[in-house]
Amino acid sequence: MSLLNIDKLRKRFGETVAVEDVSFNVNPGEFYGLLGPNGAGKTTTISLVCGLLKPDEGSIGVDGTDFWSNPKESHRLMGLVPQDLALYEELTGRENLEFWGKVAGLSRNDAKERATELLESLTLSDRGNDAISKYSGGMKRRINLGCALMHRPKLLLLDEPTVGIDPQARMNILDFIRGLANDGTGILYTTHYLEEAESLCDRIGIIDHGKILAEGTLADLRNQIGHDQLSLCWKESSRALIGLNGLAFKSRFA
Ligand SMILES: Nc1ncnc2c1ncn2[C@@H]1O[C@H](COP(=O)(O)OP(=O)(O)O)[C@@H](O)[C@H]1O
Ligand SMILES: [Mg+2]
Repeated sequence: MSLLNIDKLRKRFGETVAVEDVSFNVNPGEFYGLLGPNGAGKTTTISLVCGLLKPDEGSIGVDGTDFWSNPKESHRLMGLVPQDLALYEELTGRENLEFWGKVAGLSRNDAKERATELLESLTLSDRGNDAISKYSGGMKRRINLGCALMHRPKLLLLDEPTVGIDPQARMNILDFIRGLANDGTGILYTTHYLEEAESLCDRIGIIDHGKILAEGTLADLRNQIGHDQLSLCWKESSRALIGLNGLAFKSRFA
């Protein structure tokens, strides 16, 4: 059984259809990438999955239960790493972790222990008592990730978690997330970086204009689209025509 089961999700904002008939699954231990340019519908999809938005149509199953039949239990199973940092700048790294741990229902002692553990695994032990305002961009991203992991979620949702940080910091974060998947956490990861999706994901869904255009392992996608063409679409940073299974569809990859 899939950990996350999305079926024919649809969401519109006025005239804009942000998400249209989106369906996919994420299994335990699987690293699933949602790859698409700005405005493709990635954040809207993530917001629907974690209940920040309600779908117009379609369903979201979390560990076999419909999300909206038990939102509280669904939330307990998932952790969200939002695209924009959700940290208190004036609090320390440790205080931010403990705060989000308590929001997720941990006792004071459990939050403390878990924060110590995460500061260590995120290699931030020596900076845990510094205010977030003194952190580098990469360190803030690591704490932002840690906050989502306090309650040990089975499913981790990451919305472009490496935007705006240097390559070394990015590598550290990506290695860490890969490790979580190897330990059994299901990962839903959005990105507009083709290289990230290629190097990390077990399966990739390519999304644009709110629709999944193609889905599969990297090998599947290469067979369907052709690797050179896939890369070209990203490099061109303009509208590109992709032929897939005899179908031609227009897409823009920036
Ligand atoms: N709250 C909103 N109100 C109106 N339009 C929105 C809102 N959120 C997103 N959109 C629109 O929905 C589309 C998908 O946006 P989004 O999911 O944020 O894309 P991505 O995360 O892939 O960049 C875009 O056209 C965006 O302008
Ligand atoms: Mg987004």
